Amino acid sequence: MTLPQDRPATAVPTPGPQDSGTPPASSSTRWAWVPTRSLGARHRDRIMAHLVGLDEADRYLRFGYAATDAQIAKYVDMLDFDRDEVFGIFNRRLELIALAHLAMPDAPTTPPGGGTAEFGVSVVRKARGRGFGARLFEHAMLHARNRGVQTLTIHALSENAAMLKIARNAGATIERAGPESEAWVRLPPDTLASHMEQIMGDQAAEVDYHLKLHANQMGRLLDIVSEVKANLSKASHIAGE
Ligand SMILES: CC(C)(COP(=O)(O)OP(=O)(O)OC[C@H]1O[C@@H](n2cnc3c(N)ncnc32)[C@H](O)[C@@H]1OP(=O)(O)O)[C@@H](O)C(=O)NCCC(=O)NCCS
Repeated sequence: MTLPQDRPATAVPTPGPQDSGTPPASSSTRWAWVPTRSLGARHRDRIMAHLVGLDEADRYLRFGYAATDAQIAKYVDMLDFDRDEVFGIFNRRLELIALAHLAMPDAPTTPPGGGTAEFGVSVVRKARGRGFGARLFEHAMLHARNRGVQTLTIHALSENAAMLKIARNAGATIERAGPESEAWVRLPPDTLASHMEQIMGDQAAEVDYHLKLHANQMGRLLDIVSEVKANLSKASHIAGE
């Protein structure tokens, strides 16, 4: 949970990030690789579209109150892609179906990184229960660890069972203070293997995205060709009458 008006507070499920499919009973039983892409300033419009697509109840869970479109716009404007990391999962139609924000510590720390980073996440309703939220949390843990961060924290409403389950499954300590809860995970130091994992995952996600992009462009081209063919045959039919 991160606050839009202040400082803007990451195993693949099968099937992959598509649009339909019955959610399996437990996401922890079906880990596989999920392409998780790093987002930048050029993705602000898509981030905005994802967030304003959340209903009032989800905005309340995500931000701690039912953020208005204007408050979300301010949050998106304030995202600092140099300091923080923003990740997303795209479906086959290139809709941003899951989004996470890893807010890095403000002040420089020793060792560089150090300190505590904060995690915020949202998954569109149609894609929930398929492990994307948990996958983004793992992704955030890996990226935070590789930047020298020692602790990853989540501020969630105590009623947010799904978010707290993700944190608990990842080994977080959870402290409940009335309606709000704080969860934190101590991260192990980075290693050569953790950096390799990140590099390979990021590159594979880029390849996946570009394959989806080409498939979409090809689909649109085929639609245009069939429309032209249909119009041509209609025209020749009229001319023959
Ligand atoms: C929280 C949220 C991101 C979870 O996304 P998700 O992709 O559906 O989560 P996952 O599929 O990874 O499920 C995670 C775990 O929570 C469990 N879970 C899901 N919904 C649950 C619910 N309503 N009650 C209890 N547990 C639930 C899942 O079974 C899974 O546990 P398991 O692996 O042990 O089976 C999503 O519900 C959401 O976007 N909510 C609105 C925004 C929000 O609350 N953000 C968090 C605050 S920053």
